[in-house]
Amino acid sequence: MPSRGKGAAGPRRFLITSALPYANGDIHLGHLVEAVQTDIYARFQKLRGNEVVYVCADDTHGTPIELSALKQGISPEELIARTWENHVRDYAAYSIGFDIFYSTNSPENRAYAERIYAGLRERGLVVEKEIEQYYDEEEQRFLPDRFIKGTCPRCGADDQYGDVCESCGATYNPTELTNPRSVVSGKTPVLRKSTHLFVQLARCEDFLRNYIAGRNVLADDMRNFVSRWIEDGLREWCISRDGPYFGFPIPGTENKFFYVWLDAPIGYLSSTAKWCGDNGRDVLDFWGADAPGELVHFIGKDIVYFHALFWPVMLDAAGFKLPSRMFVHGFLTVQDEKMSKTRGTFILAREYALRVKHPQACEYLRFYYGAKLTNNAGDIGFNIDEFCNRINTVLINNIGNLHHRTFVFIDRYFDGMVPDASWDASIAAEVENAAGRIARHFENGEYRAAIEKIHALGSRGNKYYQDTKPWELVKSDRERAAEVMVTCANLIRSLAVFLKPVVPNLVAALERQYGAAFAWDDYRFSLRGAKTGKTEKLVRPIAEEDFADLLGGAAAEPVGKQDAGPRTRGDDMISSDDFSKVDLRIGTIERAEAVQGSDKLVRLEVNDGEGGRQLVAGIGKHYDGDSLAGKQVVFVANLKPARLMGVLSQGMVLAAQHGAGLSLLAPDGTVDPGAKVS
Ligand code: 2FM
Ligand code: ZN
Repeated sequence: MPSRGKGAAGPRRFLITSALPYANGDIHLGHLVEAVQTDIYARFQKLRGNEVVYVCADDTHGTPIELSALKQGISPEELIARTWENHVRDYAAYSIGFDIFYSTNSPENRAYAERIYAGLRERGLVVEKEIEQYYDEEEQRFLPDRFIKGTCPRCGADDQYGDVCESCGATYNPTELTNPRSVVSGKTPVLRKSTHLFVQLARCEDFLRNYIAGRNVLADDMRNFVSRWIEDGLREWCISRDGPYFGFPIPGTENKFFYVWLDAPIGYLSSTAKWCGDNGRDVLDFWGADAPGELVHFIGKDIVYFHALFWPVMLDAAGFKLPSRMFVHGFLTVQDEKMSKTRGTFILAREYALRVKHPQACEYLRFYYGAKLTNNAGDIGFNIDEFCNRINTVLINNIGNLHHRTFVFIDRYFDGMVPDASWDASIAAEVENAAGRIARHFENGEYRAAIEKIHALGSRGNKYYQDTKPWELVKSDRERAAEVMVTCANLIRSLAVFLKPVVPNLVAALERQYGAAFAWDDYRFSLRGAKTGKTEKLVRPIAEEDFADLLGGAAAEPVGKQDAGPRTRGDDMISSDDFSKVDLRIGTIERAEAVQGSDKLVRLEVNDGEGGRQLVAGIGKHYDGDSLAGKQVVFVANLKPARLMGVLSQGMVLAAQHGAGLSLLAPDGTVDPGAKVS
């Protein structure tokens, strides 16, 4: 039985996490599989009325980050600050609704790392051992795996890191490399003795065996894997690194630091603590050993070892709650192959958003992933042909079609009013029956099955429409035609409720039309005799051509050429339909700063009523940053994102030219951010 947050019948309480992305790289389509998977779950639980905190953070410590900063000639702190901004922006483009996106390089994380380490020591689980490691005499530092390169001992490939060969995939100890050299000085390192700290995992085997076998933490495939690891015997885990190391110093040692994998998962806990501090809550409401509620991790299959073995031992040692459930996903393949930079199939989140020429491309990716995700760790394929097929079949030809034909009919024959008539009881019963199953599928991470069920309901609706022929009924039996419309309008709302965790922006258009934000129970038929808002076009078909620039193509050109040419006339005039395609909105500028290297471009962080967006505007010669914060502006919200001087702009701010001057357009009085301009 799931535990309850507030009393037996009250809402459940969830702390939900995605794995923390490393702060030395960009978010790519692989990260998005997990972020979308987690976000769907978090949104589903919120929709059900449960209390949910969805946390994530950047994983900031360790050698690769230090190395990356070194290469770029900046400090690790500067590197992780830049990356954090990029990560936040990239996730936002896909509507990933974290309640907090924090950093492991935080005071909270240091405090919890120290506390958990103290717990491990108190349990007598930490031992010291002397080992031999490579040392760079010129730089006077021990060299962690990634600071050493040499020849792979297995395949002979040159220029391989000290832990893994990128050519043949072999893993080894740095001391096994032939011709080792220091990445920092280029010199041949020498072997030196150093004392390190190890957690004796083998002493926790009974605890882990009970934890893994005794609860439903992992799906069967992964539970079997982990059980086998335990039965094979667990090795000691080295949790220390010699300084200099970008991380937290280990109390009571000299120049030793916690290994990044010690403080990384603690980021889940410390980010929750930060959120709790900001929101007047107690972190133990979520992480206390007996706290009611569920702690749910979403991770990739490559990091199960850390989460299923090290992490529970760490939490238990310090008296915290153990994870209730771990959803493990597989890897992403692109066009049926492993993502590869050389083949142009290593797709960054921001490149996808820029290069796919469709305004709903990011929302469609959520749907596509959702329609493929199960709760086992099989790999997920991204395939353009299949992508277009799936979107067009389900969202356009099925759901979109039912919505379009229903509301065109209601507008035409019932004056935009869902008639005051009864609905078809058998369709309402089918929805009722499907709702329970769809909820169970979401609950179990079986999104593919949930979406198949939603698709089937949409098909049922279209068939019902087709079979009842309302276009004939309206002439012969208006009352019956009214029933058909009431049934379809209610069914569309049910479908919208079920789809809301997956495609929240698409459903937001329906919420505007129906005049309310949907909660789960709104799937039940109850609507009749109600005026609905304007029918917006929900979805537009997507074609393979829209992906022409994605795979290995050139970066998108900046859009928004701002020449003030002669006014258009005759053939160049646009229809009101054309104009209605432009989604103009009000935004409030929260921060403004000059784009580096440009005296014209200003980067604006704008509250758009939907979680915020970044705009770049050519107003630098007319406005300085300080005068902009707090101003309201009008911006084009559905312009394809473009990069200006390398900085992403998710829309365009409107301004009037007067002579050599420029004046930003603003509403006449303060209005809510996100308000539509028409
Ligand atoms: O594998 C990774 O990308 C790690 N940065 C994941 C860390 S998840 C958690 F433990 F912090
Ligand atoms: Zn090799």
